[in-house]
Amino acid sequence: KLVYVLNGPNLNRLGKREPEIYGSQTLDDIGAMLAARGEALGMTIDMRQSNHEGALVDWLHEAQDGGAHAVLLNAGAYTHTSIALLDAIRSIKVPVIEVHLSNPHTREEFRHKSWVGMGAKGTVAGFGAQSYIVALEAAAGF
Ligand code: DQA
Repeated sequence: KLVYVLNGPNLNRLGKREPEIYGSQTLDDIGAMLAARGEALGMTIDMRQSNHEGALVDWLHEAQDGGAHAVLLNAGAYTHTSIALLDAIRSIKVPVIEVHLSNPHTREEFRHKSWVGMGAKGTVAGFGAQSYIVALEAAAGF
């Protein structure tokens, strides 16, 4: 089972970026955790990051065309702004799980709206790097 793990803007700075909110682990650390857990679950992880909205749209399409089993998507701030990402999620049949390190509902009001969440099968938020692992375990059950 191939799982795309797509990460949006500023997540390349994880570890250095507001560690009190997002933790000290880097995106590479999370990738290594996912690869290990994925191996145990019989899943292959294709982990990517882009600061560009359109790249995330293209990768969602690619997940469908490449026969992915599921997508984990942490769209960063595009979560709260991007109708294009919602439309891309709705344009594919592959289930998308929305992932966040922090819990946006405990933060500023502008983070309470999630366009991504409107198209997602489910959401895992608030558990730091562990959010990705919980989402992968959910995807293993589909
Ligand atoms: C985030 C939450 C978003 O509100 C924020 O813009 C991010 C990271 C998270 O993983 O907690 O960039 O998606």
